[in-house]
Amino acid sequence: MLKRIALVGANGQLGRELRQRLGERAIPLSHADIELTDASSVEAAIASASPDTVINAVAYNLVDRAEDEPKVAFAVNAYGPRNLAIACDARDIPLLHVSTDYVFSGKDKTSSVERQRSLPYTEADRPDPLCEYAKSKRAGERYVENLCERYFVVRTSGLYGPTTTPGRGNFVQTMLRLGREQDEVSVVNDQTCCPTSTADLAAAIEALIATEAYGLFHATNSGSTTWCEFAREIFRLAAIDVAVQPISSAEFGAKAARPCYSVLNTRKLAGVIGFEMPPWQEALERYLADYERKP
Ligand SMILES: NC(=O)c1ccc[n+]([C@@H]2O[C@H](COP(=O)([O-])OP(=O)(O)OC[C@H]3O[C@@H](n4cnc5c(N)ncnc54)[C@H](OP(=O)(O)O)[C@@H]3O)[C@@H](O)[C@H]2O)c1
Repeated sequence: MLKRIALVGANGQLGRELRQRLGERAIPLSHADIELTDASSVEAAIASASPDTVINAVAYNLVDRAEDEPKVAFAVNAYGPRNLAIACDARDIPLLHVSTDYVFSGKDKTSSVERQRSLPYTEADRPDPLCEYAKSKRAGERYVENLCERYFVVRTSGLYGPTTTPGRGNFVQTMLRLGREQDEVSVVNDQTCCPTSTADLAAAIEALIATEAYGLFHATNSGSTTWCEFAREIFRLAAIDVAVQPISSAEFGAKAARPCYSVLNTRKLAGVIGFEMPPWQEALERYLADYERKP
């Protein structure tokens, strides 16, 4: 059994969840302990932790801001995992790196007329990232795949979990706040994905690192929805009376282009770990019950 799991990004949403889940097996490395963009800091932190496996839950996640500062996004999301892959490979220990559904565009490339995709992406589908954040995450995946013999790359989607960083609330927390402050909330209805709870992702990651089935995996809650329908379900479950106005991505006007469809097929992961991640509705209900108890 793995006993020393270095958890890089230990204070992020997923990092906090994994710390709780892994308990004494986790060696938490926060931004204060490791600067992922600096190869010597990474080497020193991994040498000192002396882990038997490493999980990278670090990210530059500011999708719109990345359009203005792509170098910063690449430093964290691409060169960061590169530095970790080199440090892990030198010690012959596995690296689990977390990536995103945004490596896909949602556009169906198989027909001559451009159409929206309607079939969940498998690990064999070719990425076609649309924005700088997504390109930096794809570059990070490639470094890990190419530089580390024993790697897991785990793509997930629409993550929500414990977060205490002011101003960094996840989608669920933002909707709860807006729904209580406003009479009406506008939410995009032309992006389909599967929102995923860090609790369920952490359980899947724990099971995956116990195997030697290295490679690329898709890991999300099951099912699919739009952000608009997700918001409606949040308000229904939290009993918040607010009108939800569906709007298009063009009307919303975000700086970075996002995929119109990025549902991931998770069959490969379920085959390896022996269970399916629960439906998104069930995960959301659990999260809200927990969150309302200890906000
Ligand atoms: N959030 C989503 O909706 C979503 C969707 C799909 C995939 N993902 C992926 O899931 C993973 C976890 O995401 P998350 O939402 O848990 O992230 P998060 O809450 O934003 O946490 C990221 C952590 O990384 C740390 N960090 C940032 N830059 C760093 C650096 N240069 N060196 C060391 N640490 C650094 C941050 O510390 P400071 O705050 O102290 O800088 C923060 O604790 C990421 O790979 C992300 O791309 C997320």
